[in-house]
Amino acid sequence: MKLKNKVALVTGAAVGIGRATAIKMAQEGAHVVALDLNGEGLEKLRREIEALPGRVLPLVCDVSDEAAVNTAFAKAKETFGKIDILVNNAALWRSKTAFMDTPVEEWKRYLDVNVMSVVYCTRAALPDMLEEGYGRIINVASVAGVYGNAKMVHYSATKGALISMTRALAKEVSGKGVLVNCVSPGSVSPSEEDDLNYSQPSELSFMGRTGSTMENANLICFLASDDATYISGQNIQIDGCRKKQ
Ligand SMILES: NC(=O)c1ccc[n+]([C@@H]2O[C@H](COP(=O)([O-])OP(=O)(O)OC[C@H]3O[C@@H](n4cnc5c(N)ncnc54)[C@H](O)[C@@H]3O)[C@@H](O)[C@H]2O)c1
Repeated sequence: MKLKNKVALVTGAAVGIGRATAIKMAQEGAHVVALDLNGEGLEKLRREIEALPGRVLPLVCDVSDEAAVNTAFAKAKETFGKIDILVNNAALWRSKTAFMDTPVEEWKRYLDVNVMSVVYCTRAALPDMLEEGYGRIINVASVAGVYGNAKMVHYSATKGALISMTRALAKEVSGKGVLVNCVSPGSVSPSEEDDLNYSQPSELSFMGRTGSTMENANLICFLASDDATYISGQNIQIDGCRKKQ
């Protein structure tokens, strides 16, 4: 088990990449603090993790609310004593609108959920990580943050922000044992699919298919593990060799 007795906090853990990451981490022996707005999804995750080596603490939390984030981190510390691994995965991405049709309010909502949540969670996790001299922070961005997606200017901007935040923060803290990396998925299998290995045809990758949620979780867990002790400040694309940029 690659994450035995580590404590990992995963945001947006009820479905999709977050759920697969929580399950994979618990399989690898980590105790998982699972944050999401979706209480039903968290309850399902709790049942799925029950039989695995790691324990799970599901917490309903709006990660765009700083006070709620701080309360959740306090509960996590009370339960498990520490947080070694932070996976900033929760995000909004489903709306597609032309730039001029995207209201400023929508920009602000995307910035709050996709960027400020990462600021709040990282600020809550980092002081203890620095004191311990050990930490792993993995931000889930997107190929949209690298290439830009048409009709998703606001989304692309938030993911570009995560990639540059990752690179900049890594320079501040990597020398103190806290490794900060970003993963940028391309086409991912739909979150609605329960099968963690589900893949479907996709024209967007030379592999001709979507990446399963477990393939994404595997990369995140690798970066969280002690197999990745010399990697920090990177954005790693997981996109089956992306076709359209
Ligand atoms: N699915 C894709 O094709 C794709 C591609 C590239 C990048 N990504 C990125 O991967 C990550 C996961 O995406 P996904 O498609 O697996 O998941 P998803 O979009 O299906 O689910 C995201 C989860 O985050 C939760 N969430 C949303 N806002 C929240 C908030 N304010 N507080 C707490 N939880 C909140 C939702 O309830 C949901 O459970 C996201 O960061 C997304 O931008 C996804």
